[in-house]
Amino acid sequence: MKRSIIKDLLKEGAQYLNKEVNIKGWVRTRRGNKNIAFIALNDGSTIHNIQIVVDLAEFNDDATIKKVTTGACISATGVLVESQGKGQAFEIHGKKIEVYGEADPEKYPLQKKGHSLEFLREIAHLRPRTNTFGCVLRLRHALSFAIHKFYNDNGFYYLHTPIITGSDCEGAGAMFRVTTLDLKNPPKTSDGEIDYSKDFFAKETNLTVSGQLEGELGALALSNIYTFGPTFRAENSNTARHLSEFWMIEPEMAFYDIKDNMDLAEKFLKYLISYILDNCMDDLEFLQKMYDKELIERLRFVVSNAFERLSYTEAISILEKSGRSFEFPVSWGVDLQSEHERYLVEQHFKKPVILTDYPKEIKAFYMKLNDDDKTVRAMDVLFPKIGEIIGGSQREENYDKLLSRIKEMDINEVDVWWYLETRKFGTAPHSGFGLGFERLMLFISGMGNIRDVIPFPRTPQNAEF
Ligand code: 4AD
Ligand code: MG
Repeated sequence: MKRSIIKDLLKEGAQYLNKEVNIKGWVRTRRGNKNIAFIALNDGSTIHNIQIVVDLAEFNDDATIKKVTTGACISATGVLVESQGKGQAFEIHGKKIEVYGEADPEKYPLQKKGHSLEFLREIAHLRPRTNTFGCVLRLRHALSFAIHKFYNDNGFYYLHTPIITGSDCEGAGAMFRVTTLDLKNPPKTSDGEIDYSKDFFAKETNLTVSGQLEGELGALALSNIYTFGPTFRAENSNTARHLSEFWMIEPEMAFYDIKDNMDLAEKFLKYLISYILDNCMDDLEFLQKMYDKELIERLRFVVSNAFERLSYTEAISILEKSGRSFEFPVSWGVDLQSEHERYLVEQHFKKPVILTDYPKEIKAFYMKLNDDDKTVRAMDVLFPKIGEIIGGSQREENYDKLLSRIKEMDINEVDVWWYLETRKFGTAPHSGFGLGFERLMLFISGMGNIRDVIPFPRTPQNAEF
């Protein structure tokens, strides 16, 4: 008999009413007494379980029912009926049950409700079976789909940029090395350095921190591209907003200036949040109930209000006048910390903020220099509860200015010869930005820790599963 998906049964139950159906899934709970058993089954298609009611006298298979415990995987066949109890419209009058996989009640870790998120991180191989992670994983999927849909509908091409690179896009130096050299006995050059010309790629390579540099090559041919892939940072940041491996979406557009770039970022974020509000309400409602009472209201607010736009210089003056004593003191030239970003967003403007024109010293080499020679055409989008969610800029398209920035910042120009050549041949004004997928997931799900919005988090000291 063809298996039905629980989500479809609950939604379109009327058309299956009083007919025999088959469902498969994992038992969330089994309750009842010696006459009757109520089994709540979930197959991951929805936050909602379907209830299977088994009349034990009629069923007459004690051995099987005994194995139907929390966590077991079963296939159940029975007639779909209108539910007698409250809480669900339909239930299944179970006739036949096959147990695919038992879960010993003494050993299966997901017994009672309400395990801490910290504990669930230690059993990340099983946590997808909890309500919370079911919601998070479905939201990740819906959000990924919406990202591709947005760009496809707006004429952008998905460009696949490499994971292994020989360059350092952000110039932060926090990279994971990729090598096949024998670490115990690496080949050495005559002056005693490790000889990377003997390495697999005959040069030093690392996992990419960003697809942007290659993304720019695509934009300077296809006009509008985006990347969506994993990126890697070896910074030792043990915070609730940093991962060592995270996913980033990086659109790059020829002929866009910083204003066009901001408009796209705002339109993109609003589209994604609207998409989730329109398509994932069951999951949002569950997460709101469990973790964040203002979640849905906050999402609606962001969709329906214009983001505040101001320069870094104006932001510094607001922070200086705030009368707050920040842990990191503010003055023109300092990099903004999350406490500063959150003050601007949560206390001062009470809505998302886009900051532009940062001091060149605290930003990457590729950003377009303003006429003041002091600031660059950078833009960061700051969100409530999150802080920075997007970082981007208009790019320096002038060969000489770019080269002098590269030299000023001690970047080896030989490593980025191909990037520089785009400014020699048919250069064009262009802009782009990077959206941290898990930062947006934090915002959309209302979860508090970035480790809980990715299936298998990588953080300092942790690469289990
Ligand atoms: O601001 P970032 O470093 O910008 C870039 O990488 C540019 N190349 C993007 C571009 O212009 N194409 O990173 C972009 C975003 C941040 O705003 C943040 O949302 C996210 O990536 N991000 C992280 N997310 C999780 N864990 C980390 N360690 C992150 N570092 C950055
Ligand atoms: Mg940034």
